[in-house]
Amino acid sequence: MEFRVLGTIEVDGPAPTSSPAGAKERAILARLLIDAGRTVPADALLDAGWDDVPREVAARSLAVRVANLRAFLEPGRERGAPSSLLVREGPGYRLAVDPRQVDAHRFELELRAAAALPPAEAHAALDRALSLWRGSPYGDFVDAEFAQAEVRRLEDLRADAQAAHARALVELGRPLEAIPALRRLLEQEPLGEELTRVLMLALYATGRQVEALEAYRALAARLVELGLQPGEPVRELERRILEQDPGLAAQHEPAAPLPTPGRPAPVGREHELGRLRAALAAAASGQRTGVLVHGEPGVGKSTLVDAFLAEAAQPGGAAAGVGQCVGHRGPGEPYMPVLEALGELARGPQAEAVRTALAQRAPTWLVELPWLLDETTDPEAVRHRAQGATRARMLREMLEALDAMGKAAPVLLVLEDLHWADDSTLDLLDAVLRRRDPARLLVLGTFRPAGEHGEPAVAALAHDLCVRGVAESLPVGRLPEPAVEDYLRRRFPAGGLPDGLAPVLARRAGAGCPRRGRCG
Ligand SMILES: Nc1ncnc2c1ncn2[C@@H]1O[C@H](COP(=O)(O)OP(=O)(O)O)[C@@H](O)[C@H]1O
Ligand SMILES: [Mg+2]
Repeated sequence: MEFRVLGTIEVDGPAPTSSPAGAKERAILARLLIDAGRTVPADALLDAGWDDVPREVAARSLAVRVANLRAFLEPGRERGAPSSLLVREGPGYRLAVDPRQVDAHRFELELRAAAALPPAEAHAALDRALSLWRGSPYGDFVDAEFAQAEVRRLEDLRADAQAAHARALVELGRPLEAIPALRRLLEQEPLGEELTRVLMLALYATGRQVEALEAYRALAARLVELGLQPGEPVRELERRILEQDPGLAAQHEPAAPLPTPGRPAPVGREHELGRLRAALAAAASGQRTGVLVHGEPGVGKSTLVDAFLAEAAQPGGAAAGVGQCVGHRGPGEPYMPVLEALGELARGPQAEAVRTALAQRAPTWLVELPWLLDETTDPEAVRHRAQGATRARMLREMLEALDAMGKAAPVLLVLEDLHWADDSTLDLLDAVLRRRDPARLLVLGTFRPAGEHGEPAVAALAHDLCVRGVAESLPVGRLPEPAVEDYLRRRFPAGGLPDGLAPVLARRAGAGCPRRGRCG
């Protein structure tokens, strides 16, 4: 059973709905969840659920509400039978769950763990932690008095997580991606010294020393008004920037995107890379383009796409977002890979354009990506605008938002492993590629043509799109013999490859075996 409070309250359990129907039951549940696993005095529950009636009346009603809540949490249990989940204990009640069943607690655990991790792992942990957020904590109760301290605590932790996420990006040599988030966080917390320091590092690393110094001066000016001055770490950084400290440059040189560990630059894929480059050039000139990369598992689709992304998403290049379809979750969660790709786009170098396009054209999507809301946008207003979202409306909004994003820079939308895609994602792929309006957009999808469950739905769709001439098929076959030899030489540079090893390996791996793409 899972309880979610980083957004509207949701319970993932045996009940047919995700939260109890009654407002008082929901309030009691919220209050119990603040102290999940611990006893909450009955008085505190009364404070949470009743502010309008005399205590004795409320106290009588509490037992009934608790019984309703038990019925919701454990629909199978006979009414009246003792509950092991919502237990009466001493002066109150306890929700007997492991705190790790609550998303807010897992968020905190990831955040704490990240503090001790090296940048790449910390970045991944913080990504996971931040992705648990769906909206304002404790949703409906965000302004309720009983929840306020906890809501404020969680929101502070979220800001910490965002700051740590930005710092990890800078440490990973991806300062460009960190800058928009840092600026937004600083607007919320204008006296944030550590935020300023990381922003200065990020700006300096991208060659914007003047802006780095301006960030320092803005902070110093605000502190002076309070009779304070910046602390030593920020002051030291300012000094080092002014002195053009070479250590600083070496440490934070604007780096090319790091190759993902374990993903070597591919050998023998020049032809495929050439086709992807041509497709991107067409997209950049305003011709929306789709490329559907297909081949058996392990043949090298992701490696090819990663290599292409590394060059396409250089500063000044395309804005790229990658979404991964996941086997066991695919059909259940509509648009999951698209949302993931949007999240990445919204954190990338074109963050501003992406966020603006979503805010102006796609409120039904923005409500699904609440962590993208900044303090200038009222979440309530977005929810209001998103009311009455239908599948058709979401689709239409995303088509328009993607067109708008392309105005700032060509957009590269990558959807990996589409054989696992949910129907909504496939509908979007279909609609976005068939749309006639010009757009600077390249949609790159990968899939396996057939698996244990026969041919996936995306294979027929890809065929259809290619026949219509709105997408092209890019089959990835096994490596030919010279590429295998090249790979072995790179892998074992000490030399002394036995003659004839490459051809044997290539044959064993089925190199050069003719494969036909689905559409030619
Ligand atoms: N062209 C290549 N050169 C070197 N290694 C490769 C190449 N293509 C794939 N690999 C390696 O093969 C493995 C599987 O490749 P991957 O791209 O993940 O396959 P797919 O996405 O098609 O399932 C990876 O470990 C990758 O590093
Ligand atoms: Mg793959």
